[in-house]
Amino acid sequence: MAPLLKANKIRKAFHYPYHTQILNGIDLTVMPGESVAIVGRSGEGKSTLLQILGTLEEPCEGTVHICNDMVSKKNKTRIRNEEIGFVFQSFHLLEDYTALENVLMPAMIGGRSTVKGSPSYKRGMELLAHVGLEERAHFQSKVLSGGEKQRVALARAMCNDPKIIFADEPSGNLDSQTAELIHQLLFSFVKEGKALVLVTHDKELAKRVSTCYELTNHMLELG
Ligand SMILES: Nc1ncnc2c1ncn2[C@@H]1O[C@H](COP(=O)(O)OP(=O)(O)OP(=O)(O)O)[C@@H](O)[C@H]1O
Ligand SMILES: [Mg+2]
Repeated sequence: MAPLLKANKIRKAFHYPYHTQILNGIDLTVMPGESVAIVGRSGEGKSTLLQILGTLEEPCEGTVHICNDMVSKKNKTRIRNEEIGFVFQSFHLLEDYTALENVLMPAMIGGRSTVKGSPSYKRGMELLAHVGLEERAHFQSKVLSGGEKQRVALARAMCNDPKIIFADEPSGNLDSQTAELIHQLLFSFVKEGKALVLVTHDKELAKRVSTCYELTNHMLELG
């Protein structure tokens, strides 16, 4: 079985305002059906690593393969649109658009019809129902609460039926009952032979994944 994600010797430093080494040779392989948690102290570089793995940021050195393709400048937009769902730590919703429009954004970018009654529209409504937000579908996202925005962001990450979901603190703003709903949704996604890579400070969540790593001293160690 081929890995869904393979990262080799990832290094990352930021050079402004001054040189800061963040990641120093990260190797990671994620197989279909695997869930991975990355834990570690604040500022250690977890979000930076997730963004590199998710093709949103470039490493200084090293390679990322997603579904056998090495991520490059040429193919990263396609890989991002077709194979990846990403839940940002700070959601990154388009505030003037409704919850549903946000969820459907990846389908629109992919050139699919999202008019009422289209398969994408139905899927968008279904995903919003899964995260308990069917009734908020037509609300502008700027009026939603933090936890509601987070759930919209998760529904959006699932819109294009990706092979891997990267989720940065996916339940950070949620009460325990809603967090459990989100966790079940994420783990049911993994059961379909896909993969989940999440960053979390939630120790209970970290215990439920198949593999937990700690990012410490710029390296990943088995947690
Ligand atoms: N564009 C940038 N330029 C310079 N430094 C940056 C940049 N992005 C992140 N950093 C620094 O890199 C370090 C790692 O940031 P990152 O957001 O990856 O941490 P984190 O482990 O996700 O932390 P948290 O748990 O608080 O979310 C931080 O010290 C941050 O200040
Ligand atoms: Mg972070």
